[in-house]
Amino acid sequence: MTRMPLSATEDDNQDERQGSWPYRVHPTGWFQIGWSADIGAEQLVSLRAFDSDLIAFRDPAGDVRVLDAYCPHLGASLAHGGTLMGGNIVCPFHGWEWSAEGKNVRIPYSKTVNRAQRIRTWPAREIDGLVYIWHGPDPLSPTWELLAIDQVIERAGFADRFHGRPVDDLRTWPEARLHPQFITENIVDHAHFHWVHSTRGPTDLHEYESDGVFFQVRHRFPGQGDTRLMILASGVGVQVWENMRYVGRPPLVPEEARAFKALRKWASQFYDDDVAN
Ligand code: FES
Ligand SMILES: [Fe+2]
Repeated sequence: MTRMPLSATEDDNQDERQGSWPYRVHPTGWFQIGWSADIGAEQLVSLRAFDSDLIAFRDPAGDVRVLDAYCPHLGASLAHGGTLMGGNIVCPFHGWEWSAEGKNVRIPYSKTVNRAQRIRTWPAREIDGLVYIWHGPDPLSPTWELLAIDQVIERAGFADRFHGRPVDDLRTWPEARLHPQFITENIVDHAHFHWVHSTRGPTDLHEYESDGVFFQVRHRFPGQGDTRLMILASGVGVQVWENMRYVGRPPLVPEEARAFKALRKWASQFYDDDVAN
């Protein structure tokens, strides 16, 4: 599994590309750490996210569990030689067993268990074939839940007009380094549709609304009637996101300013460090 490009500090060019980015912390929320198919039954998968080494596996019920990778006893990596037994993780170094909740449940050469030690667990969800973990100020208590794509479509009132997902066209850019907010900002960026997605001109962004963790926009596409828009994160989009420099106070024209401002204000709720945007 590839490493998630979430940390700007990993980027050689970080000072330059950071631009006037106003936050010091990772945003709060659910982050994809892999695909359902990456985590088979009886398999301990090693991964890295949020500057932490982690393991992922399926418990006997098939639910994905994610824990820190290191055994609290003497520090062995459970990702290297650890095994699964009856839903517990067995450390390769001295055989201590840890439950999916991170509790020590057996020490093979002792009558006791160590109740004080815990392996950190990460809330995990699996939706539409994607696996997510929660990252937030209270690491154990997600403050909102993800929706499946079908639920998103329904919430937006598009169930009757949704043309389905071309799953065969799935493409990924596992090495791309970009901030999740760059992608989100595109939804209010009415001018980019022409340049990046080949619409006939800028769209008419006639409605936008923030509602808790949701931000909904409605665009009219020029001269295209009831458009079937497939936003397949195009290579052009990724190239822009990967190489752009964030502009904290952009010189927006009146046609784009209000929606951008609303979106950035909405996005600020996901950062815990209260830096003015
Ligand atoms: S380091 Fe894991 S059991 Fe000793
Ligand atoms: Fe786009």
